[in-house]
Amino acid sequence: MDKIYLDNGATSYPKPHEVADAVYDYMLHCGTNINRGGYQAAYDLEGTVFETREMLVDMFGGQDCKNVVFTKNITESLNVVLKGFLKPGDHILCSSMEHNAVMRPLVQLEAQGIEFSRIPGTERGELVLDAVEGMIKENTVALVMTHASNICGTVNPLAEVGAICKKHGLKFIVDSAQTAGVLPIDMKSMNIDALCFTGHKSLLGPQGIGGFILDEDMIDKIYPILSGGTGSISHTEETPDFMPDKFEPGTMNLPGIVGLHAGLKWIQERGLDAIADHELGLTQRFLDGLKPLEDKGLVRICGLPGTADRKRVGVVSIQTLKVDCADAAFRLDFEYGVETRVGLHCAPNAHKTLGTYPTGTIRFSFGNFNTAEEVDTAIRAIAEICGE
Ligand SMILES: Cc1ncc(COP(=O)(O)O)c(C=O)c1O
Repeated sequence: MDKIYLDNGATSYPKPHEVADAVYDYMLHCGTNINRGGYQAAYDLEGTVFETREMLVDMFGGQDCKNVVFTKNITESLNVVLKGFLKPGDHILCSSMEHNAVMRPLVQLEAQGIEFSRIPGTERGELVLDAVEGMIKENTVALVMTHASNICGTVNPLAEVGAICKKHGLKFIVDSAQTAGVLPIDMKSMNIDALCFTGHKSLLGPQGIGGFILDEDMIDKIYPILSGGTGSISHTEETPDFMPDKFEPGTMNLPGIVGLHAGLKWIQERGLDAIADHELGLTQRFLDGLKPLEDKGLVRICGLPGTADRKRVGVVSIQTLKVDCADAAFRLDFEYGVETRVGLHCAPNAHKTLGTYPTGTIRFSFGNFNTAEEVDTAIRAIAEICGE
């Protein structure tokens, strides 16, 4: 039985072979560190790291490639930005659909006197945009928001929210985990001050690489909560105040950056539009195929009914109404080879918003290498498991 991987929302798989080749080549034929070695191979690798920063700035409309910081994942990026920026007495807004990569830092910060409020969301995971301005208080300094839900794929209107942030002088921090590499993101026109990304999902790099891009005005406002050796200004024990060293202590994940470089190149060559068309096409096919089961009361599909206007990405959660979700997911894997994620997906309040707490859902998430035939197999498997 062939396996059908539908868990790209967790991490993309397979990666383009160019990504694996690049990491392999680095391990066998380079393997050096950067910013420390005084030899040509280290300088060459520095060139690749620099080029990766440039590709990210180009892709996301950042100002300057020195403002691209590498971390190990978006969780670390969000922690560094939120904990370095917010101070006791501050208030921050977030959506009701946030992943724990945002919520757990905010809940920790609450204990230090930093308040947060959740902008309400609908049962389909849509942000109630009209509520935002009324929730801004005198001490509101920022708004943090996921671009798309990791449970139901509903996309948040970044441009509209960014415009509100600009009007009220709030810093806009974005979690792009489920959209970077699929949907266009432009820091300038969307007024994003800190764009956090993870390298191993739709950016197609290996696990263990992520980062964030800062607007110039944000750099001085974030205290570097991590510090250590950077290979620069080695005569002093002070943390560098220049970018990107201010936020990049310790040895970097160079195999990860080299792999990410190859992933970004693959995306550039294919084009974001073609990628989105493919993934959203599969998503629409899946939603259409499940609709008859929903009409018969066998499943509940979460989120928007379709991908029109790209308001939904390739992440679909369902609940099987006559069969336990965990049993259904187990059978999908063992009997049909369909690999999914089941239960609660690290975003408890998002589940509450969608009405899927505490049962959770079965999540299907599509990637570049999935096919229409695989989607059809998954639909047939769900139908059979549901007794259709
Ligand atoms: C919306 C969202 N934010 C943050 C994360 C955390 O990503 P990472 O584990 O790469 O830090 C995820 C991962 O599933 C996610 O879907």
